[in-house]
Amino acid sequence: MQATQVRAIRGFALGLLALTSGWLGGGFTASAETVPPIAVTASPAELLAWDAVLKELTPGAGQATADFSFAVTNISSSQVVIDGVRTSCGCTVAKLPSQPWLLAPHDGGQIHVTVNLAGKSGTIYKTITVLSTNAPKVLTVKVNLPENPVMVRARNAQMAAADRQAVFKNDCAKCHAEPAKDKTGKDLYVAVCAICHEEQSRNPVVPDLHRLNKPTDYAYWKEWITNGKANSMMPAFAKQQGGPLTDEQIDSLAQVLVKALPPGVQAVPRAKPVPPEPPIPILNKRDPGQLK
Ligand code: HEC
Ligand code: HEC
Repeated sequence: MQATQVRAIRGFALGLLALTSGWLGGGFTASAETVPPIAVTASPAELLAWDAVLKELTPGAGQATADFSFAVTNISSSQVVIDGVRTSCGCTVAKLPSQPWLLAPHDGGQIHVTVNLAGKSGTIYKTITVLSTNAPKVLTVKVNLPENPVMVRARNAQMAAADRQAVFKNDCAKCHAEPAKDKTGKDLYVAVCAICHEEQSRNPVVPDLHRLNKPTDYAYWKEWITNGKANSMMPAFAKQQGGPLTDEQIDSLAQVLVKALPPGVQAVPRAKPVPPEPPIPILNKRDPGQLK
């Protein structure tokens, strides 16, 4: 009986809309272009009030799901039936207290939403469409997850390929420029060069400076550090070119590199990554002879 009442109200609202648009069409023909067309499907007045239509969460590390609840109240004086919910992905489940869920006038309750975070990274949005005797309502949840490091690295490389000085700008500067502050010589190499050139899993376009098959001298190092190379990911470090290094810093770096990376000297082979310690205590004793 209640549902019939609601349907009756809805029918009345639609009829009213149809009437209104007819009236607008007839009464204001002169300004017809400026009046936005009123669709007959326009949603009737809201019967349900939500505590929010967008909720956001930053889950802790290792959390497998992000859980939300949306509170809803029937603000009308008739019963509203929530028939079901639809979510934008299989990873998102929305639960109603019952299905269908009958909300008496001024009654309320909660819809629980769970987003499965497996395999997800970055900022994600999921929607939940609530189907009821009222118009469908779209709720959104936003989950802030750490970005996938592989994707971040690929994007950074892409930015550097487009602008090799990008490494010294905005957020990139935190890792690629700021560590240079007040450093000279070897410390400076470790702070700003090693990040690309001594990385275990170096990008293949980054050369191994220990294995340069060409004559190198002070001028060579100074030139590369100062100007880098156009159309590559090797940036120009000189202040005059938007880099982080002063002439004195470049000089100190070139001086140590002449000695530390002489031409033609083969590098010690890269150390293999040390496997994690086995959990069995007796196997934990490493043979000191294996350590270099
Ligand atoms: C949190 C520190 C950090 C930030 C911020 C950062 N990088 Fe890097 N970058 C690294 C590290 C560490 C490496 C060495 C490779 C690796 O381990 O990913 C690297 C390597 C690179 C390389 C060499 C190619 C490669 O993939 O190894 C380029 C080019 C680069 N970054 C560009 C950028 C750009 C452009 C930005 C800003 C959009 C940026 N980086 C922001 C830490 C950072
Ligand atoms: C963002 C990553 C990145 C950083 C940081 C970086 N380099 Fe490079 N470097 C490169 C890439 C990529 C190349 C290869 C350029 C090309 O295409 O020839 C390169 C090339 C070079 C070369 C030329 C090697 C050759 O083949 O002759 C030298 C020398 C060099 N870098 C020195 C340095 C020094 C010194 C620093 C620190 C002041 C430094 N690089 C910092 C990415 C980097």
